Amino acid sequence: MTSKEVRAKFLEFYRKKEHAIIASASLVPENDPTTLFTSSGMQPLVPYLLGEKHPMGVRLANSQKSFRAEDIDDVGDNRHTTFFEMLGNWSLGDYFKKEQLPWVFEFLTDEVGIDPNKLYVTVFAGDKDAGVERDEESVKIWKELFKKKGIDAKDVELITEERGGELGMQGGRIFYYGAKKNWWSRSGVPMNMPVGEPGGPDSEIFYEFIHIEHNPKFGKYCHPNCDCGRFMEIGNSVFMEFQKQDDPPTGQAGGSFKKLPQINVDFGGGLERIVAASNDNPDIFEIDLIFDIIQAIKIVSCKNYEGADKVSMRIVADHVRSSVMMIADGVVPSNSERGYILRRFLRRAVRHADKLGMKEGALATFASLVAEKYKGVYDNINTNLIAIASEIQKEETRFRETLASGMKMFEKISKKDISGADAFVLFSSHGFPFEITAELAKEKGVKVDKKGFEEEFRKHQELSRAGSEKKFKGGLGGLSEIETKYHTATHLLNAALKKVLGEHVYQKGSNITVERLRFDFPNPAKVTDEEKKKVEDLVNQKIKEALPVSVEEMPLDKAREEGATGIFGEKYPDVVTVYTIGEKNNYFSKEICGGPHVKNTSELDHFKIAKEEAVAAGVRRIKAVLE
Ligand code: ALA
Repeated sequence: MTSKEVRAKFLEFYRKKEHAIIASASLVPENDPTTLFTSSGMQPLVPYLLGEKHPMGVRLANSQKSFRAEDIDDVGDNRHTTFFEMLGNWSLGDYFKKEQLPWVFEFLTDEVGIDPNKLYVTVFAGDKDAGVERDEESVKIWKELFKKKGIDAKDVELITEERGGELGMQGGRIFYYGAKKNWWSRSGVPMNMPVGEPGGPDSEIFYEFIHIEHNPKFGKYCHPNCDCGRFMEIGNSVFMEFQKQDDPPTGQAGGSFKKLPQINVDFGGGLERIVAASNDNPDIFEIDLIFDIIQAIKIVSCKNYEGADKVSMRIVADHVRSSVMMIADGVVPSNSERGYILRRFLRRAVRHADKLGMKEGALATFASLVAEKYKGVYDNINTNLIAIASEIQKEETRFRETLASGMKMFEKISKKDISGADAFVLFSSHGFPFEITAELAKEKGVKVDKKGFEEEFRKHQELSRAGSEKKFKGGLGGLSEIETKYHTATHLLNAALKKVLGEHVYQKGSNITVERLRFDFPNPAKVTDEEKKKVEDLVNQKIKEALPVSVEEMPLDKAREEGATGIFGEKYPDVVTVYTIGEKNNYFSKEICGGPHVKNTSELDHFKIAKEEAVAAGVRRIKAVLE
């Protein structure tokens, strides 16, 4: 079946059961500061699950655009995508278990045509701490339903997912699991739920791909919640009847629950997965919604959909699709919150496209393949297609500017385990989100110091803050990665000018953009071509020498004593930050400055003076670029 057919069948099925069909909400939640993206169909409905009247009634259904960034590491296997559509139906204080389970079973088996012999279900085993009983009622209903299909459904205990791998199937069809697997709330298990949050036991439905052999890496025996890929969850009925009341007493797990004013059903089923099950094809990337992109990647990369390339192709396809959906809903790549998630996704897609040997530009063209599939479903993709493709293109161009230099650096530093400081340079100077470095390291079999990276990140943020406080005085226009490089280049230029022209040189003014640095200094005459060449050579030599850049806080007196230069006429605080380029006792440059700077001069590109001119009597101006 195609996704269009399954989606339409689902909505029609519930429309006939007196459900109002509501529109999908945006991926960017409205009035919900608790989360960055809509990640399930119930999210926009929380007020109504808590008791508010919904204008469309007590029975609702839809297909909701959903995005789960936390699944990013799972993408590459046969069944995880970060964007998916959730087919959902809700009872807002209306029907409950004895309607919900028969309906969803009827939909999957009779409407979609899935063989009931390949379906397995799980139910809640109970949780003492939360004070909620095990769900015998659902077990009874499931037994009846399977019986009607001629299947004798035995229920077997698997109280924890950990024990699942030891116990295996035991000839069962209905499995009990604990709260980790069969309790659903936006914040997971009962213990983690904040006060007021609704949740409840759930019953999940799994499809078995009988041709997939169990992989003992995931446990001795297979069971429905095993991660080997033989079983795939295709639907989840949450019996949302509880609300967290207060936090647990100190030292105790759980926290108490009270019944909600109304008993709700919250069902969610992954459209893409149901389509895959209907085709008995365990590869979700081969369903109609995604396979066109895979085909296009195969053509552009001239690679087959197999082995490590298959993983890269899945990552590219998934991340491009998610990015298209996010941009259509108004997100643009940036360095914070939603924008940064989008940036990470696009950059990882670029990295894998590059790995597959794809040239710049392909990713943006895939946007139209995504749009085509959602014509008449989510029209904001088609109407914004050009803008969407252009955002993808811009981000690819941006990242490609530093990707090659970043990969070069990675090759150098990955001969052994990678330090947090090096991972941070990849991040700050080459635009590598941490997960790209982590992924590359994994491929190469070395470790990355994540804690160290986070520590560097924190330090950098503090310095950035200090830097932006001094922004005006230091003439710094911003703090992006390229600007950071220019900032360090300015220090090198200052020191080089002193060496070539004389000690009378000091910084009278400085201005940095992402394109160039500008430096004003006193000098009685025009700087000759020969002098310019000497200055350039000296700066480039220092870049080549790969000098460390170190930072230290010290009393102003001490800084002066040590020979640190400053900005003329600047009034400094008692304690200043000093940046040293080179060895402590044999440095090339030492300046009082708020930063930030690169960690090592080798991060800078080739230095070139673009222009030398007069700005006032006895004051010269140099504009220089890193290229
Ligand atoms: N809200 C439930 C889920 O996301 C249906 O699994």
